[in-house]
Amino acid sequence: MNNIILTGFMGCGKTSVGKRLASLLDIAFLDTDELIEKEEGKSISDIFASDGEKAFRNMETECIRRLLRQKKEPAVISVGGGLAVREENRRLLRELGTVVYLKVSPDTVYRRLKNDEKRPLLQGENPRGRIEDLMNARKECYEQGAEVVILADDKTFEEIMNEILSYCRRSEK
Ligand code: S3P
Repeated sequence: MNNIILTGFMGCGKTSVGKRLASLLDIAFLDTDELIEKEEGKSISDIFASDGEKAFRNMETECIRRLLRQKKEPAVISVGGGLAVREENRRLLRELGTVVYLKVSPDTVYRRLKNDEKRPLLQGENPRGRIEDLMNARKECYEQGAEVVILADDKTFEEIMNEILSYCRRSEK
């Protein structure tokens, strides 16, 4: 079995779906943001504030490289919403496993994250507009980087997991 990698915009459900899927498959769940926080000993918000976004993006690339070097047992891996923007990262992710893009609308993201304080990119004024702009700028990257796109608005976790699993089964044949 391959690693299952979940990508998509902030708030698309990578962590919620990923944890449930990993538990269903009885495999590990990893999250690049958590791995980076552990490695750096500070939160994502602190990394953005003290080191800047560029440094964080380099940490993301290094994190994926480390995962590739480690070659552990298969896992479900949720990656930060901006990670797929770098072409190099998209290539590394495809090497790492089956890349699944959870696609949601800006409305869904706004509804889920309007009170969130942990995403530095959404803390300024007009988060609704920022979500739309960032999503427009990134959507091709998500699509290019993924093997399969799952429309995740208004679906239950079970429905999303079933779609992921049926894709993985088909592609293993
Ligand atoms: C980011 C998404 C976040 C986190 C950081 C930047 C982005 O991860 O990596 O705040 O650029 O979209 P989630 O997608 O898990 O929220």
